[in-house]
Amino acid sequence: MSKFMDWVDARFPATKMWEDHLSKYYAPKNFNFFYFFGSLALLVLVNQIVTGVWLTMSYTPSAEEAFASVEYIMRDVEYGSILRLLHSTGASAFFIVVYLHMFRGLLYGSYQKPRELVWVFGMLIYLALMAEAFMGYLLPWGQMSYWGAQVIISLFGAIPVIGNDLTQWIRGDYLISGITLNRFFALHVVALPIVILGLVVLHILALHEVGSNNPDGVDIKKHKDENGIPLDGIAFHPYYTVKDIVGVVVFLFIFCFIVFFFPEMGGYFLEKPNFEQANPFKTPEHIAPVWYFTPFYAILRAIPDKLMGVIAMGASIALLFVLPWLDRSPVKSMRYKGWMSKIWLLVFCISFVILGILGVLAPTPERTLVSQICTFLYFAYFILMPFYTRLEKTKPVPERVTG
Ligand code: HEM
Repeated sequence: MSKFMDWVDARFPATKMWEDHLSKYYAPKNFNFFYFFGSLALLVLVNQIVTGVWLTMSYTPSAEEAFASVEYIMRDVEYGSILRLLHSTGASAFFIVVYLHMFRGLLYGSYQKPRELVWVFGMLIYLALMAEAFMGYLLPWGQMSYWGAQVIISLFGAIPVIGNDLTQWIRGDYLISGITLNRFFALHVVALPIVILGLVVLHILALHEVGSNNPDGVDIKKHKDENGIPLDGIAFHPYYTVKDIVGVVVFLFIFCFIVFFFPEMGGYFLEKPNFEQANPFKTPEHIAPVWYFTPFYAILRAIPDKLMGVIAMGASIALLFVLPWLDRSPVKSMRYKGWMSKIWLLVFCISFVILGILGVLAPTPERTLVSQICTFLYFAYFILMPFYTRLEKTKPVPERVTG
């Protein structure tokens, strides 16, 4: 075995990569619950790719046959229903895991220097993931696939001058048709998965270049032993590979429970109108995107003017990209930040959840008012950040990690 590895290593840096990224990658020893979600995101990514490849074997990407081919997968293909539900539940699981992963970043200031690029690559993954989910949702060619896409694509029409041409260019037709379905299929199964995989590699390479942050936000590289190993670091493999397996088992238990017993999740993971084939002549009573898009959809609807709504929705995502440059705090972790940062993070999270709930519901004047207040608070969290992070009094950060 070792002779074989010598042969490989002389031609390809296999052992070096194993050591750099696993057996000699020293991660802080105080990782907590929130640090499970990076590896879980990788697991869900693999699930989506594997089940996606098998679904593609039986799915037909045409307006005439798509809906029936999904029914065929559900009823006739061996293990087809499990494959499909693993994929559809996986999409929602992906966003749950990624939202918790991002929340950890906000909580411990993981986006701050020197991890700005880790965050920016993460945000690019998030954008690509939203595009991937949006295009995948058209493929079953149900009523919500059709009308959801109709609402979102028509948003581009609000852009002055080029709006109409742009929507037509995206659809490839005067209305959403089999042509749109075909191009979304190509992007969903080939182009975007490649982009996402590439970005995940960049994300992890950037992280391993600077090393992981931790719940205390202290730099473990400041204190090393005589061999140059951080005193507060432990080798990723075997310590965190084994710890992550615990997270994987708990996650799979919950995930499989949902796949087997509640795959529709009360209409949140699989919306009810999507059990009916797309019909361009029949608009569903109430059109709402899937839950993971609804906070941004609520921001869009909170603003009466369509173009301004689209701009606000774009800005709400763009602000997340520049977060590393908005936070001026001398400390990273929320444990040592002042009360203003704590309150604003809480306000931000509550607003995001309320917007998510309102985005699912049909608008009423009262709901619109609440979504306007939440939109205001969402933006205030970012825009005021350079001020409150500089003004507030922070607590002293310990030299070494605390348990
Ligand atoms: C497919 C999606 C993603 C995958 C597979 C992924 C994977 C990972 C992995 C394996 C880690 C190291 C383990 C850990 O710290 O949990 C990590 C760290 C990190 N990720 Fe992601 N990630 C994804 C999306 C995102 C997104 C959307 C963001 C934010 C915009 C993000 C921001 C970060 C940050 C800031 C770190 C460093 C955390 C720290 O050291 O405290 N990631 N990611």
